[in-house]
Amino acid sequence: MKPAFYVTTPIYYVNGAPHIGHAYTSVAADVMARFKRLDGYDVFFLTGTDEHGQKVEQAAAAAGVTPQAFADQVSADFKDMTRAIGASNDDWIRTTEERHERSCAELWRRIEAAGDIYLDHYEGWYAVRDEAFYDEGELTTRPDGTRIATASGAPVQWVREPNYFFRLSAWQDRLLAFYEQHPDFIAPVSSRNEVISFVKSGLRDFPVSRTTFSWGIPVPDAPGHVMYVWLDALTNYITACGFPDEDAPRLRFWPADVHMVGKEITRFHAVYWPAFLMSAGLKPPKRVSANGWWLVEGEKMSKSLGNVLDPRDLVATYGLDQIRYYLLREKPFGGDGSITAKGIATRINVELANDLGNLAQRSLSLIARNLGGVLPAKGVESLEDAGLLTAADALPALVRAAIDRQTFHEALEEIWKVIRAANGYIDRQAPWALNKTDKERMATVLRVLVDTIRVVATLLQPFMPTSMAAMLDQLGVPVHARTIEALSAPLADGIQLPAPRGVFPRYVEPAA
Ligand code: MSP
Repeated sequence: MKPAFYVTTPIYYVNGAPHIGHAYTSVAADVMARFKRLDGYDVFFLTGTDEHGQKVEQAAAAAGVTPQAFADQVSADFKDMTRAIGASNDDWIRTTEERHERSCAELWRRIEAAGDIYLDHYEGWYAVRDEAFYDEGELTTRPDGTRIATASGAPVQWVREPNYFFRLSAWQDRLLAFYEQHPDFIAPVSSRNEVISFVKSGLRDFPVSRTTFSWGIPVPDAPGHVMYVWLDALTNYITACGFPDEDAPRLRFWPADVHMVGKEITRFHAVYWPAFLMSAGLKPPKRVSANGWWLVEGEKMSKSLGNVLDPRDLVATYGLDQIRYYLLREKPFGGDGSITAKGIATRINVELANDLGNLAQRSLSLIARNLGGVLPAKGVESLEDAGLLTAADALPALVRAAIDRQTFHEALEEIWKVIRAANGYIDRQAPWALNKTDKERMATVLRVLVDTIRVVATLLQPFMPTSMAAMLDQLGVPVHARTIEALSAPLADGIQLPAPRGVFPRYVEPAA
């Protein structure tokens, strides 16, 4: 049986339309899922929508429809976006599903039975936009006197209501011990440090039920209380594994291997979530990996600036694989970056069309023209040949290590080092000239190039599935031989290759 691997995205709030920021985390999780499948794992990749809470209730009221009707419509839009960015998710979870209500109720009962839930009153600050409770020390006062959460800029309001509380204060030492024992639990290091110092600064109990509105999952046996949306939302990750059904086939995927999240929600995933789970006697996830934020042409995306990017528009303009590549190549995963039209065009033209597309096209058209499209055998290996092939052979392990750390840009940089080396190699070996002087040597050079491009295209499949399938077709790699393991078996000499066609067109800006 293949080993299990479980990767998740955050479930997205249905208060507004999907944008490129949501697409980013989903693309990253998709690359993770596809890479692990390619590397021999049985993968469960989950994404979906977070549909309860005050923020969604308010958005629905503003739209003049019921929260359920609103959630149905926006969730469908997120599902469409998820398909449009090529995500290969195995399930789509919505927190308004019956399976989820059952799972939340059971988790609640277990936490309550453990003595970690008690009834009290909350009086303090709440930011609806973040669906988060804040302490005085986490706020800033604006010049006009309004108060906002310093970290997010979300306006806060003073609330006073009866609530059930979670005894987070009791978990401080156990959480710190857990982080200590699992140094890779939170990535990157900046997020890990932030979480640890937050926990060290002292944890307070916080409300896990709300009573001032009703759009949520009812608390068992507590009329008037709905679950705090973050308890509800986080639970999605076990609902989809079939919790609490002991015989659910997907239970084998828990604990999750990695929760991919935006850096602003690391605290919920790395503090509250493991505490809820441990309290209920369940295992915490293995890793929480935080991504940084995208700006657009240097500005924060906002409705008022009118610069909110719909990933579907970008895909229509530049192509799906091109956008997936750009998002993971342009900035380090944990850091922030800015999406620019110029940057996208440059990456497409320089790295995809030139470095990779031309390399394949040049190599394959020489085989088509000079060797009748027949894949040549390798003759005597020169030092240069061996140098390039050794670099290609080392690539799977390097890429695997980078993907396991979610440093996608490093994985791509390792791949591009080999692509650049192959370009240097083809220029120096000049197989087009060898065609007149030494046909045997030309054949060897072209075979070395095909073998190198095969490794590159195999490892790039998770990033650019459609283009790399086309490239592997042209290299004559049978569909069953496109895994990482299959790289150890050479392609058969003498196979007939299909006519080469360019895989990456240059991006030319449409005339104004
Ligand atoms: N519903 C919660 C998550 C619950 S998970 C149990 C939530 N939803 S959200 O709709 O606000 O989506 C947040 C996620 O979208 C972020 O964590 C991040 O992954 C992604 N992004 C949203 N805007 C982003 C950018 N501008 N840039 C990059 N990613 C951002 O929080």
